[in-house]
Amino acid sequence: MRLGVSRAAISKGIERLREAGFRIDSAPRRGYTWLGGEEPLWPEALREGLRECRLFRPERIRVHEVLDSTNTEAERLAEAGHPEGTVVWTERQTSGRGRLGRSWVSPPWRNLCFSIVLRPAVDPRSVAQLTLLSGVALAEVVLASGLRDLALKWPNDVMTGGAKLGGILTEMRGEVDRVRYCIVGIGFNLLGDRLAFPPELRPRLAVLEEVLHQQGVSLPGPLHRGSFLAAFLRTFEAWYFTYLQEGFAPLRARWCALSNTFGREVRVVGADGKVETGRVRTLDEEGCLVLETASGGRIRVLAGEVEFTSPVYG
Ligand code: BTN
Repeated sequence: MRLGVSRAAISKGIERLREAGFRIDSAPRRGYTWLGGEEPLWPEALREGLRECRLFRPERIRVHEVLDSTNTEAERLAEAGHPEGTVVWTERQTSGRGRLGRSWVSPPWRNLCFSIVLRPAVDPRSVAQLTLLSGVALAEVVLASGLRDLALKWPNDVMTGGAKLGGILTEMRGEVDRVRYCIVGIGFNLLGDRLAFPPELRPRLAVLEEVLHQQGVSLPGPLHRGSFLAAFLRTFEAWYFTYLQEGFAPLRARWCALSNTFGREVRVVGADGKVETGRVRTLDEEGCLVLETASGGRIRVLAGEVEFTSPVYG
């Protein structure tokens, strides 16, 4: 009682930390031990990692403990006139959103949930290319960690061993011929393991730290969320400037090299519910998936959910 805090109050506090994802051991007479593994995002580590950035200036990074959705908060900021390069990060979302009206679940303290405000001077029809750009940047940072099997699945999934490490939700406001702003929201499973997720989601998702451990990859140090986010933002920025200056072609080539989508039989459910089947032939100059149907025809898919119905072909 020297600090004027009762045992019961400490135990309640520890329980709250455990619920928040901290691994804390307890032993009689020794008290509590934090087993490490998760730590809050350190804005200092992030600031340090962004020193060279022109777009993602450290003062444009906003860190929250809880939000409804970082995409929604980024939208509020964009509407209020905040500049391109504003980044909204949170530990926990109460209404995290995925593509196609789904929800996004991410245990706090371990993962990345953030959104970026962009104001690109591009045709609104090109905005889906920003999803592909984000996938490339995410894949490059993940590959730098030493992961052996990584693949981009059209249009927005970062996969390993058939399971999803992360996803991207790009939203846009504007007129038919002008983009006012775009919000790129990213959810990525970085630390810990799948046990932190609800059981029904576990078979289809992967957590980078767990997969690296399973693959026996030895890291120079623990994965750190602030450094990982900074590395992502630096990589994204480099690709974004290339994209604005040179167009989609270099990005398209890089995306294709990182993808596992080509040559496979797929079933695609479009945003309108229409189902198309065929073999994936290419990604066209605009970022649409081109399928070859059983009758030899070609179909261009602008948006939808891809399901692989065959393994990789050659
Ligand atoms: C998907 O794969 O369906 C896209 C998932 C995108 C989730 C992220 S988490 C941060 C941002 N805020 C949201 O509400 N959604 C995105």
